[in-house]
Amino acid sequence: MIKLISDIDQEEAEEDVISREPTFQAPKEVSIPLYQRLFYSKLYNSVKWSSLLDNNLLLNIVTFGTYSKLVRACCNEIDMHSKVLQLGGTFGNQLAELADSVGYYGHLDVMDVNGTQLSRLEGKYETPYPQMHFIRANAEDGIEGEYDAVVCFMLLHELPIASKIKVVENALHAIKENGKVIFIDYSQPNYWHPLRYVVRMFNRLYQPFAEKLWDRGIDTFAKDNLDYIWHRTRYFGGMYQKVVAVKRPKMFEEAPKYSDFL
Ligand SMILES: C[S@@+](CC[C@H](N)C(=O)[O-])C[C@H]1O[C@@H](n2cnc3c(N)ncnc32)[C@H](O)[C@@H]1O
Repeated sequence: MIKLISDIDQEEAEEDVISREPTFQAPKEVSIPLYQRLFYSKLYNSVKWSSLLDNNLLLNIVTFGTYSKLVRACCNEIDMHSKVLQLGGTFGNQLAELADSVGYYGHLDVMDVNGTQLSRLEGKYETPYPQMHFIRANAEDGIEGEYDAVVCFMLLHELPIASKIKVVENALHAIKENGKVIFIDYSQPNYWHPLRYVVRMFNRLYQPFAEKLWDRGIDTFAKDNLDYIWHRTRYFGGMYQKVVAVKRPKMFEEAPKYSDFL
């Protein structure tokens, strides 16, 4: 059979249209990392335990009155109307304060690997804070989009060293030039700190990956740490720290590669 050129064109056009049709894509499977299943699943998979801990007064008691100070220190770094990503949901009012700092015309993405926690956060914040959006993903698997700031509030101490490195790297690569990553977490208390050995004992029993933050600065988890300006502030005799990494602007255009001319 002879095909007219116009028929061929039409067939191709139809194929083109079909290939551009939106197709159904099953939601990406997100599995709970092993460290969470081993050490934190009782808390994060339980609505009852999570609601019990979701209380500012209790959080201030267990952090020796430092929780509210840490929340303020974190939010002071955030500009109104900016685009912010928080890695890992939190208890208490930290996310509400962060959403207030971003404002209604800003944008706050909250990424969490745990479905129960993400549903709890959606239920709590979706209506009063329309600027908040929820993403179910593992922060170790890479981050899509560019942000003015990325917040890591009490997340790193839960992660084994390899995961710490991946999350720090991903957070640093998700910010714009002059953007910042704010880490709030444990650090090594002063030698004279009366609670130093109590906290160490607790960590060894229940939070085995927290002590790495006593031995190493957060900047040492990043490969290209010289591309960022690091600033560290300690709280409550050094038991907690805020580390802010600001991405340096490029001083010169990257030189073209030899292969570009071939
Ligand atoms: C950010 S920490 C905060 C808990 C802390 N006790 C608080 O409220 O201050 C815990 C949250 O991070 C989430 N998380 C842990 N590992 C994660 C990962 N790799 N990617 C994304 N979220 C993660 C957990 O599911 C949990 O909801």
